[in-house]
Formats: sequence, C-alpha cells, structure tokens
Amino acid sequence: MKFFVDTANLSQIIEAKELGILDGATTNPSLMAKEGVKGKNNIFKHYAAICDIVQNDVSAEVISTDFEGMIKEAEELVSISEHIVVKIPMIKDGIKAIRHLSDRGIKTNCTLVFSTGQAILAAKAGATYLSPFIGRINDITWDGIELIKEIAEVYSIQLYDTEILAASIRSPRQIVECAKYGADVVTSPLKSILGLLNHPLTDIGLEKFLDDHRNM
Ligand code: G3P
Repeated sequence: MKFFVDTANLSQIIEAKELGILDGATTNPSLMAKEGVKGKNNIFKHYAAICDIVQNDVSAEVISTDFEGMIKEAEELVSISEHIVVKIPMIKDGIKAIRHLSDRGIKTNCTLVFSTGQAILAAKAGATYLSPFIGRINDITWDGIELIKEIAEVYSIQLYDTEILAASIRSPRQIVECAKYGADVVTSPLKSILGLLNHPLTDIGLEKFLDDHRNM
C-alpha cells in the first residue's frame, strides 16, 4: 500500500519525505486555505513547492464544478509540474471531465466519494485514483472501512485499474485496516502516519535494553 500525506503544509511534507516512506501527497481547497496561500500565482507556486519535495504524484483540486471550467483548470494545473494529479469531485460534470482528461493521459483523483456506486462510475470514467472519505463516513456513525472492503471487492472482480486511495483518515488504526482490506493507497495526516510508530512495549523494551547496557 502506498503512503500519501494529506496536507499542504511544507514542513510536514518534508518530515514525511525524510522518514523515507512517502509515495505522494494530496491537497484540497481546505488544506490549501489552512496554509494561508492566497492568489492564483501563490497557489501555483505552493503546488510547485510540494511537487519539488514529493517528486511523485501530488493531487491538486479544481474549484470549478462545470465541465469546461474543470478542463481549463486541469490544463493549467498540469502545467505546474509533471507530478500534478488533478483532483475532481464526484459530480456529473466531474465524471465527464475525468473521462476527457483520462483520454488525454492526464492523471485524475476522483474525490468526495462515499459509495460503491460512485466508485464504479469513477473507474468507468478512467480515474487514476478514487478517494473514498472513510473518516467522514465514520463521523456520521456509518462504517468507512466497510466501504473500502466493498469497493476493493468490486474493483477486483471487475479488474478496474483505478487505484483505491483511502482518504479522510482519523487514526493509525484506520491505516492498518485500509491495508488489511485492500486499499492501494492511504492518504493521511502526518500525525496518524507517525502514530503507527507507537507501542508502549517498544518503549519499555528499549528502556530495559539501555538500562541493562548502562549497568554492564
Ligand atoms: O483530502 C481529502 C480528505 O483526506 C480530507 O479528509 O479530514 O477533511 O475528512 P478530512
């Protein structure tokens, strides 16, 4: 399973890259706004900076919700870097745009996905990645991992090429479950990725080793 970091924060992206486990990054308009990036030129420079660090797939989301607007934005976004993946929302014009862009070899990430039906449409349109938001599903007491399971089953049966990019991660445990149930990629805040490191028995065991060494 590939690890993407879900942030527009350059320091966190650098930290994830230096850990040696980073395969990509995803952003969205809220994450970009959180970094206080204002104006088209500054936004494009920020995407370029992320691509320079990651040197692999970086999702940048369109703002338009009409086909023509999405295509125009997509063409501008991919001119920033070869690493840009165009993030397109799961709406009717979004599916049309994904088909259009896919036919022209432009990578896409279909986002705001909450059902297997939506996942099938995205795969049929040729999306490179599919972003089911499991955390937000859990936030309304449904089961986000069950969605990953069903999408993975359908994609496997239908031999779809679209990669399941599990998103909206809230905990290290969700990362484990995404790996267990067939996600191709997980995109997570750095905190949950680093959370995979933690186990009290590791801390206790290391302390004991060091104590015993010191007492030799
Ligand atoms: O970036 C897409 C997705 O990961 C957003 O997650 O935490 O806003 O539900 P979240």
